Amino acid sequence: MKALVLLTLLGCLVPGGLGMYYTRCQLAQTLQQLGLDGYMGYSLANWVCMAAHESSYNTQATHYNSWDGSTDFGIFQINSRYWCQNGDEYSSNICQIPCSDLLSNNLSVDVECAKIIAQDSSGMSAWGGHGEILESCVEENLGFFESLFSALVIVPEIWKT
Ligand SMILES: *[C@@H]1O[C@H](CO)[C@@H](O)[C@H](O)[C@H]1NC(C)=O
Repeated sequence: MKALVLLTLLGCLVPGGLGMYYTRCQLAQTLQQLGLDGYMGYSLANWVCMAAHESSYNTQATHYNSWDGSTDFGIFQINSRYWCQNGDEYSSNICQIPCSDLLSNNLSVDVECAKIIAQDSSGMSAWGGHGEILESCVEENLGFFESLFSALVIVPEIWKT
C-alpha cells in the first residue's frame, strides 16, 4: 500500500514541461495549483475531463472551424473569435492574449482565460455539447482525484517516521 501511494506521487511529480501531452495526474496537479479545483463550483474532475474531451491533454492542439473561420487553441480549445487574438483575424479577444500563448506547456495563461470564460458564461456551458460524456468521465475520476490528493498529504507524514 505504501509503495502504491509513493508510485502515485512520483508518477505525478515527473515534470511535464518537455512533452506536449500532460498525463491526467500532472494535469490534475497543475490545475489544482492554478486554482481551478472548485472554481465556479466545478470540481477538478470536471476541468480535467473537459480537457480530456477537448484536447486529449495536448497543449498544442488546434482545431479549425470551417463554418466561421475561427480556430480553437490549446488544452481547453479556447476559441479565437471571442477569447484570444489569432493574427489579424477579427476577435473580441476578451482574454487579451495572442492565441499562440495558449499552446505553451505553461498552463497559467490557459487557466486565467478559462476562468474568464467560466465567469462570462456562468460556468462550463461554453464547453457544452458533450454533457453525457463529461458526466461519466467525472464519475469515473472522482475517486482517482480524491486518492491522488489524499496521497499528496499522507506521503510527507510517512517520510517523517
Ligand atoms: C508560467 O507563466 C506565468 C506567466 O505567464 C509565469 O508567471 C510563471 O512563472 C510561468 N511558470 C513557469 C513554471 O515557467
